[in-house]
Amino acid sequence: MGRIAYVNGRFVPHGEAMVHIEDRGYQLADAVYEVWAVFGGRLADAEGHFARLERSLGELRIAMPMSRAALTLVLKEALRRNRVREGMIYLQVSRGVAKRDHAFPTTAVRPAVVITASTVDREGVEARAAKGVSVVTTPENRWGRCDIKTVGLLPNALAKQKAREAGAAEAWFVDDLGFVTEGASSNAWIVDGEGRLRTRDTNANILRGITRSTLLDVIAREGMEVDERPFTPADAVAATEAFITGAGTLVLPVIAVDGKPVGQGAPGPVAIRLRRLYIEQAKAAAI
Ligand code: PDD
Repeated sequence: MGRIAYVNGRFVPHGEAMVHIEDRGYQLADAVYEVWAVFGGRLADAEGHFARLERSLGELRIAMPMSRAALTLVLKEALRRNRVREGMIYLQVSRGVAKRDHAFPTTAVRPAVVITASTVDREGVEARAAKGVSVVTTPENRWGRCDIKTVGLLPNALAKQKAREAGAAEAWFVDDLGFVTEGASSNAWIVDGEGRLRTRDTNANILRGITRSTLLDVIAREGMEVDERPFTPADAVAATEAFITGAGTLVLPVIAVDGKPVGQGAPGPVAIRLRRLYIEQAKAAAI
């Protein structure tokens, strides 16, 4: 984690970065967040993440704490102060501080804004991508508004812990009909026997991943076919390839599901190529 955090208008040393005990994000998960990948000190998929932030805030009726332009400046300043060239930046906006009451405060409160930046070891990450990762499955047990990027992530945290204890990198939620919804912090994809890409459609109760959306543009540009249709863990095991997408993982090959190998049990050519193309596109468009 970087050494300097942004908290409500001030850059402060990380160890002294505090929020109030009655912050509604802390007490009620009444807060949303965004994570941008950072390439060369610039924000990847900036527009998509800002648009989703505005949408998430709008769904919770929290005002944008500042304009997009001002927020961009603050995010960039956080990167600069932490000397982050390759990494990630995290932004959280909560409704603010108010005496504990489930309903919204009746008097106006200022949204609380927190930003942290961290460096990623790109070489280490690429080495991991070259090996691929395993996933485990877990029953879908989240609320019905996973399209809002809130900090209410306890089921995701428990799912990720289950994955870690099984030696896997990600957990895939599986709904009552037996279909994969998404990962604990990523979207899920497979490449079927006909070479068609498959990922869950966004009418389902999932987060509309920005990496997913940029990758769909890349896929369309490449003239590849995508079927936004649900798949089961068994479909994934029978597929030639699988991968996950997200600002943290970019495009990361999945080589096993619940201990069963996918395809050859090694990263496949489609995922490897899409990872390269996504990174090229994200770097070119970063601001
Ligand atoms: N997670 N689904 C979930 C549940 C997520 O939490 C994320 C991102 C994604 C991928 O979305 P995007 O492509 O916009 O990053 C899908 C972030 C990285 C996190 O929680 O750290």
